[in-house]
Amino acid sequence: MPIMNPHTLSLRALLFLGLWHSGRRSLASAPELQEQPRKIAVVGAGIGGTAAAFYLRQEFGAGAKIDVYEPGDVGGRLATVKIGDHEYEMGGAVIHPLNLHMKHFIEKLGIPPRKDVPSKMAIFDGKELTYEESDWFIINVLRMLWRYGFNFLRMQMWVEGVLDKFMRIYQYQQYGYSFSSVERLLHAMGGDSFLTLMNQTLEEAMMGEGFSQVFLNDIVAPITRVNYGQSVRINGFVGAVSLAGADSGLWAVDGGNKRVCSGLLYNSKSELIPARVTSISVKVRPSKSGSTTSFYEVNSVGESGAAHALYDIVVIATPLHQGKSDITFSGFSPPIPSHYPGRYHQTVSTLVHGMVNMSYLGTTAPASEFTVSEVLTTDSKGCIINSLSSLDPVHIPKGYKRPPASQGKVWKVFSQQPLSQEQLRDMFLSWDSVSETRWLAYPSYRPPHRKTPPFILHNRLYYLNAVEWAASAMEMSAISARNVALLAHHRWHQQVGKIDQEDLHTRLRGEL
Ligand SMILES: Cc1cc2nc3c(=O)[nH]c(=O)nc-3n(C[C@H](O)[C@H](O)[C@H](O)COP(=O)(O)OP(=O)(O)OC[C@H]3O[C@@H](n4cnc5c(N)ncnc54)[C@H](O)[C@@H]3O)c2cc1C
Ligand SMILES: *[C@@H]1O[C@H](CO)[C@@H](O)[C@H](O)[C@H]1NC(C)=O
Ligand SMILES: *[C@@H]1O[C@H](CO)[C@@H](O)[C@H](O)[C@H]1NC(C)=O
Repeated sequence: MPIMNPHTLSLRALLFLGLWHSGRRSLASAPELQEQPRKIAVVGAGIGGTAAAFYLRQEFGAGAKIDVYEPGDVGGRLATVKIGDHEYEMGGAVIHPLNLHMKHFIEKLGIPPRKDVPSKMAIFDGKELTYEESDWFIINVLRMLWRYGFNFLRMQMWVEGVLDKFMRIYQYQQYGYSFSSVERLLHAMGGDSFLTLMNQTLEEAMMGEGFSQVFLNDIVAPITRVNYGQSVRINGFVGAVSLAGADSGLWAVDGGNKRVCSGLLYNSKSELIPARVTSISVKVRPSKSGSTTSFYEVNSVGESGAAHALYDIVVIATPLHQGKSDITFSGFSPPIPSHYPGRYHQTVSTLVHGMVNMSYLGTTAPASEFTVSEVLTTDSKGCIINSLSSLDPVHIPKGYKRPPASQGKVWKVFSQQPLSQEQLRDMFLSWDSVSETRWLAYPSYRPPHRKTPPFILHNRLYYLNAVEWAASAMEMSAISARNVALLAHHRWHQQVGKIDQEDLHTRLRGEL
């Protein structure tokens, strides 16, 4: 028998006592135990908050009132901008084919995926294109083999291995299992190997697996740069997520990814409160049975002024970090900080409707034949941009063909700093419109990792975005949303057998 740590021991003891107690006190306290929460608040209406509303409704049924606070647009980091007659994604853009929650959402909501337009990739080192994908799959494979030996194929196998373990979370959640911390969730999926990945840089992890430095510089860094705006020194877990984001079969939502958020909000029958939450405090009240119950008072400011309301359960679905949210927590012991350590990385997304300067890319190819849609960049001094992509509208019109670079079209530039007029003039021959968004996009990943923020801030107060410190992606927020909803449910009903169970993978193996 494995040695139990004091934490699990006390949980088990609590479970035992809890069961014994409720058995004895049955009539006196049963109604209180069985009672459903009356009011639940969700703070933030991005994919995390709206998915949380959806799963909370699933867990707690029709009786609970769910309020979702959002001062800005529903969607958060999923947002579109209108250029000419069409809309384009400015934030979170692509979804992996094995992101099962996102897939489930669009099926449930009846929103189709966006039509696929084949794309081609090139790599730019600040002076010239060092790699350009061909239309022919076999030529691409041969080129990669020629230059990097089996590194490329091995990378795909490595990512597949991580993905295989990652997929376990869906089965756990299907069976209602939840986890009280990001570390426990990762451990349940991938055992110590995932925790080790969290603690290493992607570079260390891949070098340890025998990948070459040249391959890391030429191929891996451009992928981490386009997906997370950072180098191969991000943690190995988010690195693997990033590399999976270079798989084939990536998809997006017809009409814009943010439609999933408004759809989930509607489907969950929650009320959208257009206000910013300013503070949350805990209030203790005596209950009828003589014991005490606590409520959370959520204070907010909207267009109609300040307001406050009491809730049984609160889910925070926005990063508690400098520049993201400033929520004060009062009356908690131990205290809950407004901001956790670590910062969010800036990625500026600039959408330009214009004509790209082919000589900027150091190529002599005629623009009329340039059909590359993704220009990735290496981590070199000359590169002021992280990527340059030709964008398709969020809804693909009938008969659409992606125009070549000789025509004015919409390009998206990711960079760490805003582009100056001079830089824009260098990159584009002409343009009709420029629209810039400065995102605090995802965490600045600096392993070895300090402890991730907790999912549980207080008895019935939860924090969804803690998961971003493992990796930030739409699916990660959705997984965290389901985890937090399950956690809230099991803790409310004291079903500790569904929280932090060890060895689920072996135990559920026979259940497939
Ligand atoms: C440029 C960019 C590109 C990306 N590309 C991808 C990609 O291709 N694929 C992918 O999967 N992911 C991508 N991501 C990451 C992905 O967008 C995020 O991980 C995800 O959208 C986070 O969702 P969320 O709901 O957890 O947080 P958010 O979307 O940030 O939602 C939080 C919400 O809370 C609100 N809020 C803040 N403070 C308060 C308050 N005090 N009271 C009430 N509400 C408040 C905010 O207004 C916001 O709407 C990208 C992100 C960026 C920025
Ligand atoms: C990660 O690194 C920190 C600090 O170096 C260490 O305290 C922690 O135990 C490590 N965790 C794992 C799972 O390796
Ligand atoms: C295009 O790019 C080249 C190379 O960076 C630069 O010299 C030139 O000024 C740019 N602009 C135009 C309009 O050619």
